[in-house]
Amino acid sequence: MSHTAPAMAGAAQKLRSPISEQDYRERYRYSIESPEDFWREEMQRLDWIRTPEKIINGHFGENHSRIQWFEDGVLNVSANCLDRHLESRGDKTAILWEGDNPDQQRVITYRELHEQTCRFANMLKALGVGRGDTVTLYMPMIPEAAMAMLACARIGAVHSVVFGGFSPEALAGRISDCASRVVITADISRRGGKQVPLKKNVDEALAIKGTECVEHVLVVPCGDKPIDWQSRDIDACAMMQEQSVACEPEAMGAEDPLFILYTSGSTGTPKGLMHTTGGYLLYAAMTHQEIFGLREDDVYWCAADVGWVTGHSYVVYGPLANGATTVMFEGVPSYPDYGRVGEVIDRHNITIFYTSPTAIRAMMGHGDHVMDSSRRDSLRLIGTVGEPINPQAWHFSHQIIGNGRCPIMDTWWQTETGGHMMAPLTDVENVKPGAAMRPFFGIRPALMDAEGKRIEGDGEGSLVIEGSWPGQARTIWGNHERFEETYFSMHPGAYFTGDGAHRDADGDYWITGRIDDVLNVSGHRMGTAEIESALVAHPSVAEAAVVGFPHDMKGQGIYAYITLMQGTEPSEALSKELNEVVRRDIGAIAKLDAIQWAPGLPKTRSGKIMRRILRKIAANEVDGLGDISTLSDPDVVEALIKERVHH
Ligand code: WTA
Repeated sequence: MSHTAPAMAGAAQKLRSPISEQDYRERYRYSIESPEDFWREEMQRLDWIRTPEKIINGHFGENHSRIQWFEDGVLNVSANCLDRHLESRGDKTAILWEGDNPDQQRVITYRELHEQTCRFANMLKALGVGRGDTVTLYMPMIPEAAMAMLACARIGAVHSVVFGGFSPEALAGRISDCASRVVITADISRRGGKQVPLKKNVDEALAIKGTECVEHVLVVPCGDKPIDWQSRDIDACAMMQEQSVACEPEAMGAEDPLFILYTSGSTGTPKGLMHTTGGYLLYAAMTHQEIFGLREDDVYWCAADVGWVTGHSYVVYGPLANGATTVMFEGVPSYPDYGRVGEVIDRHNITIFYTSPTAIRAMMGHGDHVMDSSRRDSLRLIGTVGEPINPQAWHFSHQIIGNGRCPIMDTWWQTETGGHMMAPLTDVENVKPGAAMRPFFGIRPALMDAEGKRIEGDGEGSLVIEGSWPGQARTIWGNHERFEETYFSMHPGAYFTGDGAHRDADGDYWITGRIDDVLNVSGHRMGTAEIESALVAHPSVAEAAVVGFPHDMKGQGIYAYITLMQGTEPSEALSKELNEVVRRDIGAIAKLDAIQWAPGLPKTRSGKIMRRILRKIAANEVDGLGDISTLSDPDVVEALIKERVHH
């Protein structure tokens, strides 16, 4: 098999995959043929207050999906992540925190995390927060972020974590969409030796219309400088100290909401995907244990931020439900230099490292010697997520970071799926670098062609999932219609992922990337529509179209075509301003990599922008533009090609 990693041939016998080919095939078949039995057994992974009798109640129909799992079950997520470990793992490290500053570490045992979470929960209760209330978190990567999430879960409140890199505008939109009464933040966050003024951003967000719902802001003090305090602000650490360390967990229905997480789609504003208590937790815990082959003495590090779904499922909920030691890293892989990742691995004897291809490429960009300051002998498995891993980055991970000893788990999944959906679930020697390969237990992928017909065998098409799984998002907060429309109207009877995939002759899957208008920049998901709407709000901009283009480091870069108002001239200063409006509306992660001043945009006669053509020009694939005769003004294409920005 030409795709098989050549370096593995010799080392194969030393490498153990978490799931062998044979085990996988047997259990996968069972999960598909007897799903009720399969999931009834798997649900024993959790502690239920009332054990569910009803297991699956789900079908995807045209404009009407029903997704319910374990619906008569009752449980509490924080009790599953904390209380049930106290007896056997009370003194085990739950969170190992590594500060942005390499001299700072914190060790928090399960007993301590339980106590602090109870205090946090009592504090929220004292502020009147209870079952079903929404709470927005805008936090650095500090243990208090996990405590705040678990505290919400303990009292039945629904958290919405907003990534600390998002701007005040973006934060305000997310606060108002779910009408949070309480915001939890910190004075500052530290990243790469710099400070982000989180609390100041919250103040700015709360000055924006729509956020009047917020009554209290809980501030965790992290910095050493005074900040402005408003009358609604509360010092969370001080108030926590006054609280009791006992807090009875609320008995929640399996289908009760656990959290909302906003993510970008093809159109419109970000969608608040809602995940539930029972199905989500089971799926996060199960995938975390199976895909990484978790052992009791593992020290597990997922480098994602809690602001993303990976941070939810694989920094907090999955590992803690499994009683694992989870490492939380406040900083960035490049600070103080690119040797940091290896040094963190050595300092804590990390055994499993879960990261993104973009972080690996950044390290790789600094040469093989970037890893010389560490040994990484403790590592036994490396996982990746966020985008397809290119073979070069795969080999760097395998040979350099993992010293040729670690299997690489490329995990494909989405905010919507709650947990891993595909990974190389096979003996190590069968792994194909760059392929997500196999569906997880209970997951039925299929490929569709442009006519909506199922593709059989070797082929490429739109990736859908036939049938529900426990970790699936149940709705878009406040807009169920949009949920149905986005995910279930495209291919009735199946969940539409928005990704394309190729299935090879062995039946293994290769994810090819988004087929909708969603960008994936350094593993960060962004909608072209959000960026365009920021741009057209600028008074000099008549029209804007944003597309992605292949970028060596980031996976995808952002290319913006801008048509200016008549009488406005392009300039360097205007470019800066446009970047500034995007940063203001979304955040620094949405930096424009290229701006092309466009005399016009290619449109169909009915006025639809031909993005396909814009993508090709941005990627410099101008030979295969296809038929452009149906455009209302074909000359525009010539002009755009001539003036193309080289990046
Ligand atoms: C992409 C992140 C290829 C994909 C967990 C998906 C991947 C989107 C992979 C979801 C992978 C994620 N291989 N592509 N291993 N993992 N993606 O919601 O396009 O932030 O649809 O969830 O990232 O991004 P999201």
